Amino acid sequence: MEPLLLEEVAMSQSPRAEIDQVVEASLAALRAPSILNTQPWRWRLSGNHAELWADRSRQLDGLDPDGRLLLLSCGTALHHATVALLAAGFAADVTRLPDPQRPDLVAWIRQGMPCAADDVLYRAIYQRRTDRRPFSDSRPGDAVLDTLRTAAERHRVHLHVVRPDQLTAFTAAVAHAGDVEHGDTRFRDDLVTWTTRSRDDRDGVSPRSTVAPTHRTIAPRDFSLARPAALEAGTGTDHGTVYVIFTVDTDEPADWIAAGQALSDVWLTLTAHGLVASPISEVVEVQPVRIALRRLLGGVAHPAIAMRIGFPVDDAAPVPASIRRSGTDTIGLPGQL
Ligand SMILES: Cc1cc2nc3c(=O)[nH]c(=O)nc-3n(C[C@H](O)[C@H](O)[C@H](O)COP(=O)(O)O)c2cc1C
Repeated sequence: MEPLLLEEVAMSQSPRAEIDQVVEASLAALRAPSILNTQPWRWRLSGNHAELWADRSRQLDGLDPDGRLLLLSCGTALHHATVALLAAGFAADVTRLPDPQRPDLVAWIRQGMPCAADDVLYRAIYQRRTDRRPFSDSRPGDAVLDTLRTAAERHRVHLHVVRPDQLTAFTAAVAHAGDVEHGDTRFRDDLVTWTTRSRDDRDGVSPRSTVAPTHRTIAPRDFSLARPAALEAGTGTDHGTVYVIFTVDTDEPADWIAAGQALSDVWLTLTAHGLVASPISEVVEVQPVRIALRRLLGGVAHPAIAMRIGFPVDDAAPVPASIRRSGTDTIGLPGQL
């Protein structure tokens, strides 16, 4: 039998098959990481494409008054959806912020042309976790860091690896941001609300994934205001941990979405390479710290989010998967959401 041309394969896809792929993609996007696991998005299926909407009812008033982390989170969901399409053998056709009259419409996505299926990042979607424990003494090598840089650049986002001479200032910035947040009721209210959600809500950060503050170069966010952390820190030292800052050229909503796509791409890529990570967003949540960080980077680029990356310690058990809302709660047909 003659092999089908790519165009013939595309035409042989029924609209039903196309919509099924898009549904599949929005289901895979449920696993995307989000600020405090707020999962602040909704999908609306419309014809053969899906609309990704920001869910402002899930925006954090204290931590995220501008909605930058909300849009970053939507960007991670968008990228997860494109990864699912790629695993099914389709490029994704994406338009970010397609309608200036409707700024909460984050993107349109539809199944694009057939391409070679690649499920490496798709498999990483189900392995990836936020790992807040100290990492091992082994440092990720330059080759893998270059691969991560390339993953970020696919979205026109830059990945700056914090240099040894910048580490003291970066450490001070993270610590100061944490102090500011714990001393301010607006920030504290958000942290308490999203760490004490009921299981029925299927969102928020569970103590099962947070570690008690210990002596660390850079301690992860302290989530223990309302409930003590329940994950063992383990035997890691963080001596090999690398700190990176995602930066964007301008500081607009489209950049925050792109930064979220890059965060997802980098995170899934590093997961596929056996690395683990956790984001550090306090440094962009507190405005004076965000400005100081920008100065540390030479005043040109805008910091979007930071992250710690490393190897897990040998005997570390995987962090338990965090809870997610269901497709019924987040995916709707026209007129439903
Ligand atoms: C934009 C954004 C900001 C985040 N900021 C932090 C942070 O500052 N500290 C932290 O420990 N985790 C942070 N996270 C990780 C989330 O808490 C995590 O994705 C969520 O709780 C779901 O857990 P999972 O990633 O293990 O699936 C952030 C994630 C995103 C997408």
